[in-house]
Amino acid sequence: MNTLVSASILSADFGYLADEIKKAEQAGCHMIHFDVMDGHFVPNISYGIPVLKSVRRYTRLPMDVHLMIERPEEYVARFRQAGADIITFHLEASKDPAGLAGLIKETGAKAGISVKPGTPVETVYPYIDLVDMVLVMTVEPGFGGQGFISSTTAKIKALRDYCISHGRALDIEVDGGITDSTAPIVRDAGANVLVSGSYLFKAEDMRSRVLGLIG
Ligand code: DX5
Ligand code: ZN
Repeated sequence: MNTLVSASILSADFGYLADEIKKAEQAGCHMIHFDVMDGHFVPNISYGIPVLKSVRRYTRLPMDVHLMIERPEEYVARFRQAGADIITFHLEASKDPAGLAGLIKETGAKAGISVKPGTPVETVYPYIDLVDMVLVMTVEPGFGGQGFISSTTAKIKALRDYCISHGRALDIEVDGGITDSTAPIVRDAGANVLVSGSYLFKAEDMRSRVLGLIG
């Protein structure tokens, strides 16, 4: 599977968001990763529906929306309307993950399900036929610029092995602490969608960093 890079604009300069997104597009990123935080599911607040609606107008890249919020089922339709192409919710925040995956797909978006570093990856296995992507968090969700948690590598590998043995070509996304030194580790373990925030947006030359992530 080709490696795709999803640029997390959490680390962008919000005063120049359209320019930052254009920069990511020109650097060869494949998607824009849009982190939504509600101050409850995670101890931080970021941005939401009106900001997505606005930035949607400035790029053709798929908007990869990562919901770190409680009661995600109440918001998926509005995120889709605002321009989300992929909507990923947290297993830990959902009472009915199967129903929610169906709801997301009914809107026309792709569905993703995510687990925090402490949640066993086996908990997503009952849902992998219902989603397009599984996001294995490689840091505790809530903040950009944290260090990669190396124990998550075994989870990525277990998930990819499970998919291979079940004949399932699932997208496996990783998010948190992805740099040129951790990208080869997660790629080897079976991840094919790499989210990267601070590593890309703090760079002088984003293009060479994107190439470094793809390997
Ligand atoms: C963290 C977010 C990430 C974050 C990654 O909760 O989900 O998408 O922006 O940032 P880096 O790449 O800096 O670890
Ligand atoms: Zn994210």
